[in-house]
Amino acid sequence: MVSRVIPVEDFDLVIFGGTGDLARRKILPGLFRRYCSGQMPKDARIIGAARSEFDHDGYRTFVREAIEEFGGVDKAGCTELDSFLNQLFYTPINAKGVEGWDTLKSLMRGNVVQAFYFSVAPSLFGDLAERLHDNKIATPDSRIVVEKPFGRDLESAKELNATLREHFDETQIYRIDHYLGKETVQNLMAVRFGNILFEPLWNNKYVDHIQITVAETVSVGGRGAYYDKSGAMRDMVQNHLMQLLCLIAMEPPSQFEPDAVRDEKLKVIRALEPVEPHHIVRGQYDATPDEQSYRDDAGDPKSFTESFVAMKTHIANWRWAGVPFYMRTGKKMRARSSEIIVVFKDLNHSIFEGDDAGHRNVLTIQLQPNEGMTLDVTIKEPGPGGMRLIDVPLDMSFDEALGPDADDIPEAYERLIMDVIRGNQTLFMRGDEVEAAWAWTDPIIQGWEARRDVPKPYDAYSRGPEDAMALLHRDGRKWRDLSV
Ligand code: BG6
Repeated sequence: MVSRVIPVEDFDLVIFGGTGDLARRKILPGLFRRYCSGQMPKDARIIGAARSEFDHDGYRTFVREAIEEFGGVDKAGCTELDSFLNQLFYTPINAKGVEGWDTLKSLMRGNVVQAFYFSVAPSLFGDLAERLHDNKIATPDSRIVVEKPFGRDLESAKELNATLREHFDETQIYRIDHYLGKETVQNLMAVRFGNILFEPLWNNKYVDHIQITVAETVSVGGRGAYYDKSGAMRDMVQNHLMQLLCLIAMEPPSQFEPDAVRDEKLKVIRALEPVEPHHIVRGQYDATPDEQSYRDDAGDPKSFTESFVAMKTHIANWRWAGVPFYMRTGKKMRARSSEIIVVFKDLNHSIFEGDDAGHRNVLTIQLQPNEGMTLDVTIKEPGPGGMRLIDVPLDMSFDEALGPDADDIPEAYERLIMDVIRGNQTLFMRGDEVEAAWAWTDPIIQGWEARRDVPKPYDAYSRGPEDAMALLHRDGRKWRDLSV
């Protein structure tokens, strides 16, 4: 199989916060990999802009180190780092003042696609938008890219949207949720809407329940101060898990086109039922003999912030009425595993005498660590001895199916930045989607705050608090085990 890389149009990409953590870890190594794959035009410019006093060469050295540290070189097997670095420029800039804006303007060419990546604190979004406008740098065709956290509740998200829309139209705003850039997430849409096989079964007549798990082994150490003001609900559920839920549950859009897809996702969020307090479990990881507890990492011995959350919710529409959607996410869990599991119902009658093993078809869509899908099907156990049935997985691991091409699958940020240049908003969150997601999560968080809800402790590197297990046991179900 030969991968087809289609180069994007020529562009100038300005990275505000070009010396920050996200730029070093993700954006710049990602751009380098796109360069190596031949997708980035040889004249395109990447312009870093931040407070630090670098000149162009100083910034190039900084970026070289970032790429060497964060995997760009090895992964791409590419030796063109020097020529890539020649396409980089830098200007120190004052987001709240006048310094740097003239230089920035002079570095931009004006006749190519223009994108501005706001890789900075949301409190600076308004200043940047205003400066770009007042200095006549942005045009009606420019694109701006913003990161989560997009607000911390409905009110602040509305304010941010209003701030950005003062100077930019919604069609110019690209709100990143990097989960939407993951290969399997897009494959989920391909599988659902590109095959005749699944869609007829994709409803409450055939689906028993759906599980969405995003488990991480990392702690919040290092970013405890930020995380403690956020918690798993704001950090992961409001964005990544809800986006996965939307893609799994949405109606088929009439076309794979930005607004058609986003309209359908929005309908799912609006149809989500409020979560009953006893259908949600919060947790906080404990210390191990060698490692700190959540509260130590957060620097607050009395913190009530959750590092784990599990919940059951329903979607109130014809397709999904009565089908529970279970979601869970946590830090310091037993394994790093992100997956969506669609558990189909039992057969309504088994023709095989003595077979009461309760076989079920289960579709597993694995996002991490290995991207792929499996469908558990029931077959006859090979050999003599009558009709004994067993469940075996039909495996579609991308590594096997795609061979060496699997190594060329772009990481989420690479794909999303290229989509910005292409002007394709399908994999970006629209303002109304983000607001609707907050409208659903706000009452849950406010309920915890009002009750001063105390998260349940859980052992580090475990499956989370026992109550999370009980949430499904009560319904006669169980979570898919987190395999190590
Ligand atoms: C980020 C969260 O959005 O996603 C982090 O802020 C989390 O807390 C990360 O660790 C997970 O991303 P990934 O791609 O490693 O699953």
